[in-house]
Amino acid sequence: MILQSLFITILISIINAQYPVPIPPGGRMAVHGWLILPWDTNVTDGPIQGWFSHHVPEFWTDSPHNFQIILNGLLTPLSCFNTESTPKPIPIPYPPQDNLLQYEFTITPPPQFSLNDLLLERLTELKGVIYNGSFDTSYQRIPLALGTLTVRELTTAVYLNESKVIPSYPELRYLSYPRDMSPSADTKPFQHMYFAHEIHSVPDFDHIIHGSIDIAKCHCDINFPLLCNTKRLLQEIRTPGIEWAFPTLTNDLENRLLPPMVIKGRVTSGPVLCPITILESIHCTIGPDFNKNC
Ligand SMILES: *[C@@H]1O[C@H](CO)[C@@H](O)[C@H](O)[C@H]1NC(C)=O
Ligand SMILES: *[C@@H]1O[C@H](CO)[C@@H](O)[C@H](O)[C@H]1NC(C)=O
Ligand SMILES: *[C@@H]1O[C@H](CO)[C@@H](O)[C@H](O)[C@H]1NC(C)=O
Repeated sequence: MILQSLFITILISIINAQYPVPIPPGGRMAVHGWLILPWDTNVTDGPIQGWFSHHVPEFWTDSPHNFQIILNGLLTPLSCFNTESTPKPIPIPYPPQDNLLQYEFTITPPPQFSLNDLLLERLTELKGVIYNGSFDTSYQRIPLALGTLTVRELTTAVYLNESKVIPSYPELRYLSYPRDMSPSADTKPFQHMYFAHEIHSVPDFDHIIHGSIDIAKCHCDINFPLLCNTKRLLQEIRTPGIEWAFPTLTNDLENRLLPPMVIKGRVTSGPVLCPITILESIHCTIGPDFNKNC
């Protein structure tokens, strides 16, 4: 028992160590909503797999929202009044049939909850209302269904430091998340991706887009020819949360990636370069408190 609690304490401090700030259990209590980025699926009932982006973050040191988070989750429909034998499917777009989302779909648990508990992986189930829209859409958000969001992995979780002395990245940077996570997509010549602008220094902007990559048009930096083959390239590109830099564009709101741009990006951790076709801009708000549309 003592050993077990010691083990848990050590484990928590290891998890804690990945953030430059303390995340005591129960802290960062607030209402936290999530932007739904559904994965490619062939079924239109039952749980929806997806990426979920913290909607919305905030830079301030004393804010309960000062993390950029993108998690891998499962959204399971709940029946409304226990009168239906099985809950109705969640009526949101299902890629790839619905190639574009066109609107912002969100889930928000009505009560406050501790973001720290989520970061500590103590809180992995959130019941909430699924909406078409959010405060930053031009129309009033429309409740569509009730669901449970099960957190499967905290793919990206980064503390937002409001210090003005932190320099902005010189070139535009986005993180990418594959839309089709099925193993059969590992070799697909076209890869659809969600990209999230990397939030790093004030004021910054929170921008989520969807783009596609034609693998045949990717290549490797000539300095690393040995690392380059289609299999490796796909492996690299399909790693959730990898960082891309866009060397031709400075890291400004005005230069954000918008359709129908085709832009060359570079994976910062390796030799891969690819042209990316931007298909859709899904969400865009301006920091440091991200409550204003781009
Ligand atoms: C925030 O950034 C400043 C400037 O780099 C640094 O001095 C400070 O320690 C950082 N705060 C945290 C909590 O990391
Ligand atoms: C959907 O079905 C097609 C055809 O059976 C299959 O190739 C594809 O991998 C499936 N996609 C997903 C995400 O399961
Ligand atoms: C979302 O809301 C918009 C604006 O009211 C509407 O045009 C669109 O059809 C809705 N989509 C879904 C899937 O509910």
